[in-house]
Amino acid sequence: MNRMIAPHTSSTSAPARRTVRKAVVPAAGLGTRFLPATKATPKEMLPVVDKPAIQYVVEEAASAGLDDVLMITGRHKRAIEDHFDNAFELEQALAAKGDTVRLDAVRDPARLANIHHIRQGEPLGLGHAVLCARRHIGDQPFAVLLGDDLIDPRETLLSRMLDVREEYGGSVVALMEVPPEQVHLYGCAAVEPTGDEDVVQVTGLVEKPSRQDAPSTYAVIGRYVLDPAVFDTLERTPPGRGGEIQLTDALQDLAAGGTVHGVVFDGLRYDTGDKADYLRTVVRLACDRDDLGPEFIAWLKEFVVGLESRGEQVDRRRSVA
Ligand code: G1P
Repeated sequence: MNRMIAPHTSSTSAPARRTVRKAVVPAAGLGTRFLPATKATPKEMLPVVDKPAIQYVVEEAASAGLDDVLMITGRHKRAIEDHFDNAFELEQALAAKGDTVRLDAVRDPARLANIHHIRQGEPLGLGHAVLCARRHIGDQPFAVLLGDDLIDPRETLLSRMLDVREEYGGSVVALMEVPPEQVHLYGCAAVEPTGDEDVVQVTGLVEKPSRQDAPSTYAVIGRYVLDPAVFDTLERTPPGRGGEIQLTDALQDLAAGGTVHGVVFDGLRYDTGDKADYLRTVVRLACDRDDLGPEFIAWLKEFVVGLESRGEQVDRRRSVA
């Protein structure tokens, strides 16, 4: 691991100069980790404070200048389509009441970008989901945003990745250092430094390695800017880990040809795919809100004090027993 690699903090060039315009958001997963909540509701629609998780992802794409978003969905995902569509009756009712604040909140999702949906007929993996976007994307570079990873709206990671693609060409992945005991949850990269402090050359990638087999502690987090060459590579990528066609395996192929770079990120990222992290995300983002934060933080402090004194009582009871 190279200690000279410094994480990225800000973005430089204007979105208008970039060639990437389209984003792909894979959203076909079954969400089994959140059952029973996800029995009839897509996991992407679980609320993070008062917006579904997937809205944050589309907002991130839009604020990086990507105005075309393709959702790769599956059966039981109609709620996602409805969320990014107009809701005529609801809008009429709110307009009649003059409730412009809520009317805007209802209209916002459909205004963020041109949003398209296609279905991944079979659950054959993330690589296969990306391959489903081929016809829509054509021969242009494009971004992929995974919904389980939320990047704090104040961060400019995706913009930086788009700039790096402009400068270096090829494909770009977002990397974050994780503790060694967590590498088995991620795609993991072997890296070498470049002339840019926050950019690395990716020389190899392994999907969810054991701690012993991991080439580093740089984990791929769910943001990618991909060269269209990835489609041909995915076509010939055999099923890998878990019997699924892995995007990581196709990127390993491209990395071997020297065309993959990584942007090292150490900003705020929230993992909403895990129950405990999901709860942490909701609390953190609620604390940051001007309308909710002050009251919620005051309550939270009292709650924590209450928890601590309850803990002390339990400890005292244990030491008496
Ligand atoms: C996917 C990718 C993995 C990546 C991760 C980021 O895994 O396959 O390479 O590191 O997203 O969140 P998943 O979490 O969908 O199993």
